[in-house]
Amino acid sequence: MRRPLRPRTTSHARAPRRRPLVERAVSGGAGARREGARRRAPVIQVHDVSKTFELGQIRVHALRNVSLRIDTGDLVGIMGSSGSGKSTLMNILGCLDIPTSGRYEIDGVDVSHMDEDDLADLRNRKIGFIFQSFNLVPRTSAIDNVELPLAYAGLNRAERRRRAEAALRAMGMGNRLHHQPSELSGGQQQRVAVARAIVTNPSLILADEPTGNLDSHSTEDVLRIFGHLNEEGRTVVLITHEPDVAGQTKRVIRLSDGEIVEDRRSLGVHDPPPVLHAQKSAHRHPAGTGGSAGVGAGAGAGAGAGVVEAKS
Ligand SMILES: Nc1ncnc2c1ncn2[C@@H]1O[C@H](COP(=O)(O)OP(=O)(O)O)[C@@H](O)[C@H]1O
Ligand SMILES: [Mg+2]
Repeated sequence: MRRPLRPRTTSHARAPRRRPLVERAVSGGAGARREGARRRAPVIQVHDVSKTFELGQIRVHALRNVSLRIDTGDLVGIMGSSGSGKSTLMNILGCLDIPTSGRYEIDGVDVSHMDEDDLADLRNRKIGFIFQSFNLVPRTSAIDNVELPLAYAGLNRAERRRRAEAALRAMGMGNRLHHQPSELSGGQQQRVAVARAIVTNPSLILADEPTGNLDSHSTEDVLRIFGHLNEEGRTVVLITHEPDVAGQTKRVIRLSDGEIVEDRRSLGVHDPPPVLHAQKSAHRHPAGTGGSAGVGAGAGAGAGAGVVEAKS
């Protein structure tokens, strides 16, 4: 049985600039110094990780001695041809799978000794997943899909509704709340999936080929959304085999046959994401998308600030 998550409370002492949708994963009782240390800790540290799949007589070395550090606030692309180990790496980063050998730390915590309940808890609080095929629950409305992770987090129905609706509005999907996945275009389904990924306010977004099933227009929309999520301070790891998509990240890591063969940084961790540079020079910002009014702010405060403008 799934262990209920710790109840979350909203502080009324002082209105934070961005009210989190679900309180960030900070264990209770941590003093200011410990909290400072936690903030400085890299979000992801992979030490000499290998993953081997055994298929009868055959052994597949999906990852071979991968070591990797990803700092908080980075926007990282992971590239490589089909079968190079990208999804295996993402599954490990997202605590959906465990390495055969090596160690993985997230925010300074070694996850290898956590049990399944703790891993589920960590995933729910810290990580938002986005997949190529959207993975929405069929015959279920957009808003019910987005509410799902909040149900796991133990929020009451009214609060779930409010937050899910705000997240969908922030994705420009306010006019599609009650549509089912089959009634939405691919780009719209992916926006619902992004709303579902961010409704718990995760600090880490993991996206596995999120634009793989999208046309170029929807691809641009989704990349712009990732840009805004990153600009808000979230760490984004974006798996893709498309060079154009990887070109919208700040650092590209290339895998081949389960090994890192290239690690190239084009922008600093705290630089604005490339997609926003291009957008700023090409267009005027739609209201609410620039500066501090980000995705989480719009969704959390219910301010209706859209990351992308709603399309009819
Ligand atoms: N569950 C599994 N069982 C057996 N082999 C797997 C499994 N998952 C992945 N593999 C193998 O591991 C290798 C890497 O796969 P994957 O990480 O999915 O690559 P990519 O996402 O880069 O296409 C491939 O050879 C694949 O066939
Ligand atoms: Mg894959």
